[in-house]
Amino acid sequence: MQLSSAIAAVVTGGASGLGAATARLLAASGVKVALFDRNAEQGEAVAKEIGGLFVSVDVTNEESVKAGFAAARAAHGVERILVNCAGIAPAAKTTSRGEPHSLELFEKVIAVNLSGTFRCIAHAATGMSAQDPLNADGERGVIVSTASVAAFDGQVGQVAYAASKAGIAGMTLPIARDLSKSGIRVMTIAPGIFETPMLLGLPEDVQKSLGEQVPFPSRLGKAAEYAQLVKAICENEMLNGETIRLDGAIRMAPR
Ligand SMILES: NC(=O)c1ccc[n+]([C@@H]2O[C@H](COP(=O)([O-])OP(=O)(O)OC[C@H]3O[C@@H](n4cnc5c(N)ncnc54)[C@H](O)[C@@H]3O)[C@@H](O)[C@H]2O)c1
Repeated sequence: MQLSSAIAAVVTGGASGLGAATARLLAASGVKVALFDRNAEQGEAVAKEIGGLFVSVDVTNEESVKAGFAAARAAHGVERILVNCAGIAPAAKTTSRGEPHSLELFEKVIAVNLSGTFRCIAHAATGMSAQDPLNADGERGVIVSTASVAAFDGQVGQVAYAASKAGIAGMTLPIARDLSKSGIRVMTIAPGIFETPMLLGLPEDVQKSLGEQVPFPSRLGKAAEYAQLVKAICENEMLNGETIRLDGAIRMAPR
């Protein structure tokens, strides 16, 4: 897909971190960007900075997501790009201090990370499928979701998070197959350890030690590097149905 002002994008979790960096790069490429997030203050600020639209959306809520797509489409037309970055990462072990893992917490992580991602994909796929193709190959849209290296090497305390992210990796190929007749590509990025507000909240020595665990380059990933891969996926039509690790060759230790 050729990025231009004729293309509209929706970025969930666009108020912060990887989503905000992606929104910035897509906007810099001319794309009209709508940010879906529950953080209105930061979302409005990023939207203002990039000349985009912020819509207050909770990806766990069907009505909220439906209204979000309606608002984004009214402003920019139907999206040709969806990037799913909304996510949460609470830590808890399968059993701890004589108590089983809270099922409520487990289901919440699945609701935001996995079901929230799928909900947005289903809405975007429906909108994209009804559009005219963008090129001679019949391409109608691109969907990029965010898993994590935890989908493959989840650490102690990451059971819910790893399950949600493995779900995203696992549904990538079947969704790509479902949408192939409509010319919609479906990709997932599995980031390693990236410098985002989540990680920048950790003490500096912890950040340094995390960075040093990366074989090469021995540092945390930058949100702009994640955004760069999203852009490459949008532009390279042969990328479809796959999860790409973006991690400097890190394989997470048990803890
Ligand atoms: N930072 C990393 O090292 C890293 C590594 C692997 C995967 N990831 C994944 O990348 C994605 C982005 O992470 P980040 O580091 O930029 O985190 P972040 O916390 O900076 O951004 C996540 C955004 O999602 C939003 N969000 C959370 N729940 C939501 C909901 N129910 N509805 C709408 N928005 C919601 C938050 O408000 C926030 O703006 C997440 O899915 C995360 O799991 C991050």
